[in-house]
Amino acid sequence: MNLETEILGIKLKSPFIIGSGPLNYNAEGMIRSYQNGAGAVVTKTIRDNAAENPYPHIAYSNKDTLVNAEKWADLPGEQWVEKEIPKAKEKGVIVIGSIGHTPREVKNWTAKVDQAGADMIELVSYSKDTMIDMVKQAKKLTDKPVLVKVSPNWNSPVKTALKALETGGDGITAIDSVGPVLRIDIEKEKPLLGSERGYGWLSGSAIKPIALRYVADIASKTEKPVVGIGGVTTAKDAVEMLMAGAGAVGICSAPMIRGIQYIDKLNNDLDKLLKKLGYNSVKDVSKVALKNLYEKEIKNKLSFQFEKGKCIKCNRCIEVCSYQAREFKGDDLKLDTNKCHYCGLCATVCPTDALTMVDL
Ligand SMILES: Cc1cc2nc3c(=O)[nH]c(=O)nc-3n(C[C@H](O)[C@H](O)[C@H](O)COP(=O)(O)O)c2cc1C
Repeated sequence: MNLETEILGIKLKSPFIIGSGPLNYNAEGMIRSYQNGAGAVVTKTIRDNAAENPYPHIAYSNKDTLVNAEKWADLPGEQWVEKEIPKAKEKGVIVIGSIGHTPREVKNWTAKVDQAGADMIELVSYSKDTMIDMVKQAKKLTDKPVLVKVSPNWNSPVKTALKALETGGDGITAIDSVGPVLRIDIEKEKPLLGSERGYGWLSGSAIKPIALRYVADIASKTEKPVVGIGGVTTAKDAVEMLMAGAGAVGICSAPMIRGIQYIDKLNNDLDKLLKKLGYNSVKDVSKVALKNLYEKEIKNKLSFQFEKGKCIKCNRCIEVCSYQAREFKGDDLKLDTNKCHYCGLCATVCPTDALTMVDL
């Protein structure tokens, strides 16, 4: 299958966009991401002053999840616009220039990042209050598409996203990493990160449900494109993100943790998975779940289906039942309907889909 897609008039060879982060620390990083299969790359966030990071500032947290206290780009803005972006463009990379975090900095950098060759601009801010003015500034200074990056740490991310679009923003990137958060090294009795109080930001697998919810909320309310980013680690995650309303899928932690070649595996896996699910293109699958996000609660009880042949007797369905409603009678899985609260957990832990829920 062709994984090509398009966002705001820019053709992408793959729907995977490498989000702003350490993989795109300079031209070499961006070129490496692109040559390993990314559809586009977002620069580290460009600001007036280069960042000085605390040490250490990135730690593995648990399964496919990171905590980090990495600030914006640690290279000066001038270097980005004079050297790094043009060098990546010479190699044919689709570059999204990330600019933060204040209207003044947007004023200082937007035209320069545009002229350096960036295909799009992405605005990022720690505070929702500055975002609307940042959008206004950027739209005065460039004709290239402007994406607005939404932070789940703002107090009203969806409202701000929609206001930014009304102000002229062309699309949304959702979401930034989540925090502040804390992890402690129990041998050393101290935080994993060297930041103030050891606090950092959570990214990767753990934040996927948060990202999906914001993507779905925003995509339900606008026709403008959403780049869904947050916790995508597998092709299944990417399909989930597309179904929730994304037009392209950002990844940052996954290729950091699993290595840059992992982008190519994601492309191959996504290709196979879309075919298996019966979709002909990335566009085909975008937003398909939105129609099933009902405003009303579902009140009809579930029905379960059990396929003996698929069961490996791992007993997970029995272990997770808080109500002790399940037991095996020989090879058959029995349900005590008086005890069952129809929560559905048993079917969702089944590793082989022997136990499934049926829509009534
Ligand atoms: C180490 C690290 C550094 C990051 N730096 C930036 C940054 O400079 N600008 C930005 O907008 N987002 C930054 N992010 C956030 C990512 O672009 C992304 O929104 C977030 O990590 C969620 O995606 P993920 O779960 O795929 O990692 C950073 C993330 C990590 C892990």
